[in-house]
Amino acid sequence: MKHVPTFIAGILAAGVIGTAAIGDGHADKATLSAVKARQSLMSLQAFNIGLLGGMAKGDVEYDAAAASAAAGNLAALATMDQSRMWPPGSDNATLGDDVTEALPAIWSADSKIGADAMALAEATAALQAAAGEGLDALRGAIGPVGKACGSCHETYRQAKN
Ligand code: HEC
Repeated sequence: MKHVPTFIAGILAAGVIGTAAIGDGHADKATLSAVKARQSLMSLQAFNIGLLGGMAKGDVEYDAAAASAAAGNLAALATMDQSRMWPPGSDNATLGDDVTEALPAIWSADSKIGADAMALAEATAALQAAAGEGLDALRGAIGPVGKACGSCHETYRQAKN
């Protein structure tokens, strides 16, 4: 879990550098590329959990090697250093809802997003250990991962209408 605190530490460190977005709602290239990077990371998570969810539901035939690989990807993604992907000023209030769904609360002083990132890292590590051990083991370990995704989204991602 030692990588995860960089998620929040990076947000705080980036604050020292200054506001990434310029005031009129237009962001600089570096900010937009950081937004793209984190959204791409989220898409990779969705892709990998999609396969595992399909197996858990019985829509996709269980395959131990494929399940293990997807869970390993999720564990790797959850511990990836994201410290440059969340610059201050890259929230939806600043950049607009069409650019990002990241809520300003991520950067608030009492933000708990680091703990949410940690919860995902823990759940994906457990899933990585279980996914190749049979369908029941996969089913038992995927719930906490979905919960970790959902609980962070509930607080820090703009809900879709
Ligand atoms: C620590 C908080 C957190 C966790 C944990 C988290 N997400 Fe996200 N997710 C976000 C935020 C914030 C956004 C909005 C990012 C943006 O638009 O800039 C997002 C956006 C997304 C998106 C939309 C990406 C896009 O292209 O706009 C998907 C899909 C997604 N998350 C899937 C997942 C899945 C699957 C998991 C669990 C395996 C997960 N997320 C875990 C915070 C989180």
